[in-house]
Amino acid sequence: MTTESARPLAIVVLAAGKGTRMKSELPKILHPVLGRTVLGWVLAAVEPLAADRLVVVTGHGADQVEASLPGGTTTARQVTQRGSGDAVAAALPALEGFAGDVLVVNGDGALFTTTTMQAIVDGHRTWQSVASALAIRGDVALPYGRIIRGEDGRIERIVEAKDATPEELAVDELNAGIYCFDADVLRAAVPRLSDDNANGELYITDLLEIAAGDGGRTLGVVAGDADELIGINTRADLAVVEQIARLRILEELMLAGVTISMPHTVLVEPTVTVQPDAVILPRTILRGRTRVDGGAVVGPDSELVDTVVETGATVERSVAREARIGAGATVGPFAFLRPNADLREGSKAGAFVEIKNSLIGAGSKVPHLSYIGDATLGTGVNIGAGNITANYRPELGRGKQRTTIGNDVRTGSDTVLVAPVTLGDGAWTGAGSIVVQDVPAGALAIARARQTNIEGFSERALQQQAKH
Ligand code: UD1
Ligand code: CA
Repeated sequence: MTTESARPLAIVVLAAGKGTRMKSELPKILHPVLGRTVLGWVLAAVEPLAADRLVVVTGHGADQVEASLPGGTTTARQVTQRGSGDAVAAALPALEGFAGDVLVVNGDGALFTTTTMQAIVDGHRTWQSVASALAIRGDVALPYGRIIRGEDGRIERIVEAKDATPEELAVDELNAGIYCFDADVLRAAVPRLSDDNANGELYITDLLEIAAGDGGRTLGVVAGDADELIGINTRADLAVVEQIARLRILEELMLAGVTISMPHTVLVEPTVTVQPDAVILPRTILRGRTRVDGGAVVGPDSELVDTVVETGATVERSVAREARIGAGATVGPFAFLRPNADLREGSKAGAFVEIKNSLIGAGSKVPHLSYIGDATLGTGVNIGAGNITANYRPELGRGKQRTTIGNDVRTGSDTVLVAPVTLGDGAWTGAGSIVVQDVPAGALAIARARQTNIEGFSERALQQQAKH
């Protein structure tokens, strides 16, 4: 086995196809599945194989596809889309001088797993095959290529459903779109492909018949599960694939110790980290670089994007983007945390509260109906109901103005803090105040009209009315 695994491996990902059946301006393989492109899923699955060379064949929408790839990825252009066999031909210059095995993978197989790809490489090497294809048993109603084996079990050829006879159509070993070739055999066979088929295209699948005709060993590796068959051709396929990918992620999280209630309503993108003993409640969506630590509870009905939730924090019926929710902090119900909302340990953003670009110090509370933007709050602050930081002052020039609030400040209900403004430690404000000047530490600011009571007013008004 050691000599076999020392054999060099190249990987070619076919990503030049037009994807007509998607009926989209966007190239098919750039459609997102849980925040990652279809091609991104395939590349993530091949990455652990640590190939000596990786080539992505681009064509349709090549500029856009290439821009989506990590820097330094080798690409080869297929100028006209004349079929999957022609796409392999386009990759050959990038494989010049390469000796070893070439794993070729359809770029629209978002559900391919690393394990399955490793299985075909291992099988190919163990059996000293020159050309191998992944065979998955599936429903004969599916429109995939049929793997036709000879009496000795070797692959004789692969026939497309469109080109198949009724007997061939009844074969339930389907071609999943992962192949492994000896590099020299591949180079010799590609120029012999013909487009004599229903689509008038050069088919990668015909390479197996050519290799078998030359007397080489052609292996059908049985691995993977029926889900891996699904190449994305239509939006319906896209939805099915997303559903399966979603459940795979949730299952993995649950096995790792995360509690997920009503998992059929929860969506977690593959880039998210959720630690053991975190609890995810129904109808929760976690996206991007979100991290949820153990002991935190998120949901129900919450969406977090690129947000960190530290241990013991709770987030209920809320939306957060690029926010940090510190240990033991409570958010919601119905809070909206925008970029750079930084809620420190034990703080609170309560009902109908919006916080943006602000630090909420440890233990500070913004419980009800407030907008806090571009503010720094010290520790132990209590913000009254309905407070607003008036941070947008176009007359002061570009950019938002800051509000700085010291420790242990208490603001009355309906305070407007007109930034730039500073409230010293322990300062208070009276209800309904519009604070336009700094408030010294320990002072109470009352900034509203004094109340006037007009005695007997209503009685006089009613008498006046009766006269007319
Ligand atoms: C292909 C297989 C079929 C298999 C199925 C599995 C062929 C001829 N048939 O069918 O046996 O069951 O996948 O999903 O390959 N591509 C290019 N350039 C082209 C044409 C295609 O790069 O000119 C790429 C596509 O981007 C795609 C792959 O090749 O990643 C397969 O092409 P596609 O058109 O999706 O083939 P299927 O009809 O799905
Ligand atoms: Ca396909």
